[in-house]
Amino acid sequence: MKTIQVQGSQGVSTIYVGESLRNVGKYLPEGRKCVIITDINVKKYYEQDFPTGSSMLPIDVITISTGEEIKTLATVEIIFRELIVIGADRSTFILGIGGGIVCDITGFAASIYMRGVEFGFVSTTLLSQVDASVGGKNGVNFDSYKNMVGVFCQPKFVICDTALLKTLPSDEISNGFAEIVKHALIADAPMLDYIEVNTEKALALDSQVIARLVEDSVKLKASVVQKDEKESGERKKLNFGHTLAHALEKLKPIGHGRAVSIGMVAASSFSAKKGLITDSECKRIRKVLKSLNLPIDLNDLVNPFNELLNKSDSSMNGLSCFMDEIFSAMTKDKKKDKDKISFVFLNGIGNCIVEKITFKDLQQLFMKSNKRMRI
Ligand SMILES: NC(=O)c1ccc[n+]([C@@H]2O[C@H](COP(=O)([O-])OP(=O)(O)OC[C@H]3O[C@@H](n4cnc5c(N)ncnc54)[C@H](O)[C@@H]3O)[C@@H](O)[C@H]2O)c1
Ligand SMILES: [Zn+2]
Repeated sequence: MKTIQVQGSQGVSTIYVGESLRNVGKYLPEGRKCVIITDINVKKYYEQDFPTGSSMLPIDVITISTGEEIKTLATVEIIFRELIVIGADRSTFILGIGGGIVCDITGFAASIYMRGVEFGFVSTTLLSQVDASVGGKNGVNFDSYKNMVGVFCQPKFVICDTALLKTLPSDEISNGFAEIVKHALIADAPMLDYIEVNTEKALALDSQVIARLVEDSVKLKASVVQKDEKESGERKKLNFGHTLAHALEKLKPIGHGRAVSIGMVAASSFSAKKGLITDSECKRIRKVLKSLNLPIDLNDLVNPFNELLNKSDSSMNGLSCFMDEIFSAMTKDKKKDKDKISFVFLNGIGNCIVEKITFKDLQQLFMKSNKRMRI
């Protein structure tokens, strides 16, 4: 097991990579009420391993549904009502057991229930182990805005139990690899070499390869968050590929990592157009994402985008309609600053820069890069 710490403004968060869900009891505060928040799938697979508490202090379980569409204030309200029925007070500890959606909702609900109670996570998806559960960003979507309402608040602890990944559907494993590749591209070139050499083992969830990738990702994210917890500078780099990704996610639920994969291909292509990386580096990025079963162009999303693509195929007019929809969603990004947005470009593999760019310039880069929707 590896232990990594994040020093946040309100305390330390400790991440245990390789610890088991079965041992979570020893991290819970003694003599205090604890409530678990999980989702229906995680409960189905792992309820027998959840801590149960004692006869004096049994641990209640609140179960939510799944999918990006339930990441809303309405779900937070349901949780509040259940917490009140259970009798949760300010000393209650809330434990989220699940993927990024459970962690984002649990962290947010715990941070505002009774002005804030302590919380921790057992992270059960690859994406949440390498990204979502680490760093203290908690929140929900609002109307068509992703992660629009939330707080910065560090969990007391995060347990990344890599053994839980064996029940994850393969698409969800690939979603996690997208964020791992993102870390390699923005700050860790040797990690990209390692992924290329170990692709087969990574896809087969080889325990050593997964442990190294999760640990390196957590270390990288922890060091970025420690320098800039509230995202005023350095942390913006973690948004590489996310401007387009969030726009795609708004149009259709395609999975966060898959959207990030397409977003990273586009951002790499924009970086090449600015002369910051070479065309062969762009090709290398596409190849590694493809080898991890991630989509690298909009045509790879044929199923979820079928309707729009059919419309687009019928005429160039339809095609630009589709681009317009994506672009209009991009301009609704919560991180925009009037007519500009901070955009992350690669500056070589393993390095990146954040630049403010107008939506007009971004649109030009986007349209130039999209001949027949090839990014
Ligand atoms: N807070 C952050 O810093 C941050 C960073 C990145 C992503 N996110 C957010 O994370 C969310 C995506 O998270 P995710 O990809 O983990 O998705 P998710 O939480 O929806 O989990 C994916 C699916 O896997 C199921 N599942 C979870 N663990 C399982 C297991 N061990 N075995 C079998 N099935 C399991 C879930 O029930 C769900 O159906 C998005 O909302 C994204 O915005 C947040
Ligand atoms: Zn992400």
